[in-house]
Amino acid sequence: ETAEGTELPGAEFVVVANRLPVDLEKLPDGTTRWKRSPGGLVTALEPMLRSREGAWVGWPGLADAEVEPLVEDGLQLHPVMLTADEVENYYEGFSNGTLWPLYHDVVAPPAFHRHWWRAYVKVNQRFAEAVAEVAAQGATIWIQDYQLQLLPAALRELRPDLRIGFFLHIPFPPTELFLQLPWRREIVEGLLGADLVGFHTAGGARNFRSLALRLGDAQAGSGRSEVVVGDRKVKIGAFPISIDAAALDELAHDEDVQKRAAEIRADLGEPRRVLLGVDRLDYTKGIDVRLKAFHELLAEGTLESDDTVMIQLATPSRERVEHYQQMRDDIELTVGRINGEYARVGHPAVHYLHQALPRRELAAFFLAADVMLVTPLRDGMNLVAKEYVACRYDLGGALVLSEFAGAAVEMTQAYLVNPHDTDGIKATIAEAINAPAEENRKRMKALRRQVMTHDVDRWARSFLDTLGLPAPTDD
Ligand code: ADP
Ligand code: G6P
Repeated sequence: ETAEGTELPGAEFVVVANRLPVDLEKLPDGTTRWKRSPGGLVTALEPMLRSREGAWVGWPGLADAEVEPLVEDGLQLHPVMLTADEVENYYEGFSNGTLWPLYHDVVAPPAFHRHWWRAYVKVNQRFAEAVAEVAAQGATIWIQDYQLQLLPAALRELRPDLRIGFFLHIPFPPTELFLQLPWRREIVEGLLGADLVGFHTAGGARNFRSLALRLGDAQAGSGRSEVVVGDRKVKIGAFPISIDAAALDELAHDEDVQKRAAEIRADLGEPRRVLLGVDRLDYTKGIDVRLKAFHELLAEGTLESDDTVMIQLATPSRERVEHYQQMRDDIELTVGRINGEYARVGHPAVHYLHQALPRRELAAFFLAADVMLVTPLRDGMNLVAKEYVACRYDLGGALVLSEFAGAAVEMTQAYLVNPHDTDGIKATIAEAINAPAEENRKRMKALRRQVMTHDVDRWARSFLDTLGLPAPTDD
């Protein structure tokens, strides 16, 4: 239900992210409709915010779209407009051509362009003005992710009354890499505008703190989890994000979802083993790495395409950014090669879907998969690994997980791999496939103990408690 153009009350709790949780999509006939936005940030935050009745400030996902504020399911959405030029320079350029690769260990080379930076500054300022308009006196503002690192300071300048938290959903890089950035000081000072700056891991928090002391105006505080900027304390901490684990567990219990999982296996021709990958199509995810391992395992005869199939589901992402176009071509070439050599008519060896699927369908795929392959070269957290585990209440399946995903810190009972080590990945896939059922059940049980008790609500509470926001009163 939407109420467009209504006068909205000043919000006490505001989440700010580059994207709104819904994305405006232009259909071929020129009309538009809302759909769920891609990526882990929205997966994690949406359930949390619905239970807190906050407001969400973000971009509706289309260039030049002037959209009035709306209320969707009790959530106030405040769209921020980006021009086509800004989409190109702020979003595709500085956010995803500079910061994304730089923060992910430069697994692709970051580009440094001054006109991208200027657009980033300008758009962050626009977000500051938008938030300043919707926030009630003394409200709590929770800023999300790398696209908005200048926003904490810009917002404090306009509205010193606000309590401001910032959370980075991607890795914070080693200091030597961060120092490449021509605008390193501005970014650090932007972040230091917050009262609390949060990361997924203790390593990220440590890297940021040392840069704040080196580049920013910060002085050491009373412990390692704070610094002092002028007369303000800025807290710094690690808050590993998670998922709405109970909701996925419930979805996996749904009879229709289970029927669908059985149907998927039947459609595949009842193979003995199903391997699965689920990712945004991103070069950090190591999709090429797992295809290569699978290809070699088939070539050596360790696996047979007669009884083992691989499925790769890949959500289209950032399709106008060059690195992404190149990677998509490479992956599709590899899929074609593997199938060219190992498929039979009606029986591909790799099933590749460049599509975003509904959550229920995704849950069915998780249930249908014997081995889940999560092999990023670097990943802030990786929610897919947690989603798989949350769905496997049957204690079936096995998780192969990269050591370079933030999730590996908590999910130590997974089959951990170094994504740069092809032989290691091959051996680990074979190990996971051939392990006694009891061994895999034991591992899954331990993984579930972690994931089911550390859900996204706990993450949000822990961040907001540290920021000093009281818990909602209704539970
Ligand atoms: P990132 O935030 O980098 O995209 P995460 O693994 O943390 O990576 O989160 C990805 C989110 O997108 C998960 O919630 C996952 O279920 C969802 N997702 C990934 N691929 C697909 C797909 N093909 N269809 C639907 N959802 C997907
Ligand atoms: C990751 C980032 C998010 C981003 C999402 C989808 O989860 O951390 O900030 O929203 O990917 O990417 P996109 O560029 O489509 O917003």
